[in-house]
Amino acid sequence: MRPVKGILLAGGRGTRLYPVTRVIGKQLLPIYNKPMIYYPLTILLLAGVREILIISTPDDLPAMRLLLGDGSAWGIRLEYAAQAEPKGIPEALIIGADFVAGDRVMLMLGDNLVYGQLEFLREAMQRSTDGATIFAYQVSDASQYGVVEFDRHGAAISLEEKPQRPRSSWAVVGLYLYGGDVADRARRLRPSARGEIEITDLNRMYLDEGRLQVQRLGRGVAWFDTGTSENLLEAANFVRAVETRQGLIIGSPEEAAYRMGYCTLKDLEQTVAAMSTSAYRTYLERVLHEAHWESPAPTPGSAPGGDGA
Ligand code: DAU
Repeated sequence: MRPVKGILLAGGRGTRLYPVTRVIGKQLLPIYNKPMIYYPLTILLLAGVREILIISTPDDLPAMRLLLGDGSAWGIRLEYAAQAEPKGIPEALIIGADFVAGDRVMLMLGDNLVYGQLEFLREAMQRSTDGATIFAYQVSDASQYGVVEFDRHGAAISLEEKPQRPRSSWAVVGLYLYGGDVADRARRLRPSARGEIEITDLNRMYLDEGRLQVQRLGRGVAWFDTGTSENLLEAANFVRAVETRQGLIIGSPEEAAYRMGYCTLKDLEQTVAAMSTSAYRTYLERVLHEAHWESPAPTPGSAPGGDGA
């Protein structure tokens, strides 16, 4: 089976976070102790995706590139593309069409944080073919999200974007898996009343054709979208609580790349050696130290202790 490509969409204006986002893109802001974009990037790596296109604004792209590089040190491929104006989430699939080159693609929003056992993601990747798979998560107020409604047999029957009166409490997570022809479908979308092409309209195309799988995420997974200052703080507090309690960190692409077997211990050593002294570096030094005592070397997908996303 051909590899699934990844697109990480990290543009937009971040207007709800103004003035914090006046001169810096939202996805470069910290969630507790790391730039926001580390978290979704780590999820893609742990899902098994190692060729990723990062899409951001023309202003933020140079900083993203400086931050993440070309991925070679981590054994992955990172490419970059600009979205001139935030014309809607599905535009990422149009911008990324050449990069994806007809392969399946996992699209993740750069402001989404997922934590927990990621088996659901790997299973979805093995299962899905040319349709679409989306993930639903129960929230107390779904009106801020895409909302999916299920019939009594558990089949998805409707999808709405930010409905004033949600038909269910199941929000659509900013993580989507599509077949190779998704860019053609995205090109057929027309802007909504708010002037954007909508990811929910794209997913509804698949629903109408009976080619949408909706997987519900259970209580073992935590999902945050960090669109507002409150969400940002909640996510930061969550990361801090888990990291402090476990002594493991969430959202380290370096660790994920090593544990997934994309890079060697030696590669990780070199990466860590170039880092400035910080708690982050100290943690990775501990990973290195422990790895020296482990044998044999990790094989892809063998992340111990859960996914530590
Ligand atoms: O987080 C999940 C939700 O994400 C879904 O439930 C919704 O169905 C989906 O529409 C989206 O809603 P948001 O209100 O969070 O979308 P927002 O406009 O904030 O964009 C999400 C991220 O994508 C944000 O980090 C900015 C980036 N973005 C957005 C647009 C529209 C871009 O980079 N370019 C864009 O054109």
